[in-house]
Amino acid sequence: MAVERTLSIIKPDAVAKNVIGQIYSRFEQAGLKIVASRMTHLTEKEAGGFYAVHSARPFFKDLVSFMTSGPVVIQVLEGEDAIAKHRDIMGATNPKNAAPGTIRADFADSIDENAVHGSDSAENAAVEIAYFFRTIELAPRTR
Ligand code: PPS
Repeated sequence: MAVERTLSIIKPDAVAKNVIGQIYSRFEQAGLKIVASRMTHLTEKEAGGFYAVHSARPFFKDLVSFMTSGPVVIQVLEGEDAIAKHRDIMGATNPKNAAPGTIRADFADSIDENAVHGSDSAENAAVEIAYFFRTIELAPRTR
């Protein structure tokens, strides 16, 4: 299986719940390495740009408002099959449909405030990683 990198965000609701460490433990237990990490408070422009693909969706304004409502923790995760593995441990977008034991089942309250983000394809992972991190900020690849 290929070693991949994926972009992960711990959203403002999960940061406010003080579960950053618990979520990081889940990444590590799943065999995902944190190769870059930053806490930041996104501006409207930064959040709007990141979610530009959803700009025509009815929830876009609320999504940007939520993502700028408090600090987030943004990381790059590396591992075998990292993109799918990360999405598996995140659980479904709507926490009501998230499998037991997933991050969203355990820490998210609603589809609007669903604790975490994860890239959904290799193509998007590359774009999303480059949106938040410069190459020099990523740990060098070891394999
Ligand atoms: S969906 O359900 O297939 O449209 O979801 P998706 O295209 O994968 O991602 C949509 C992102 O917007 C966030 N969001 C919502 N989605 C659907 N409905 C509502 N009301 C909503 N509010 C916010 C959702 O969490 C996805 O964000 P990310 O950060 O990518 O998980």
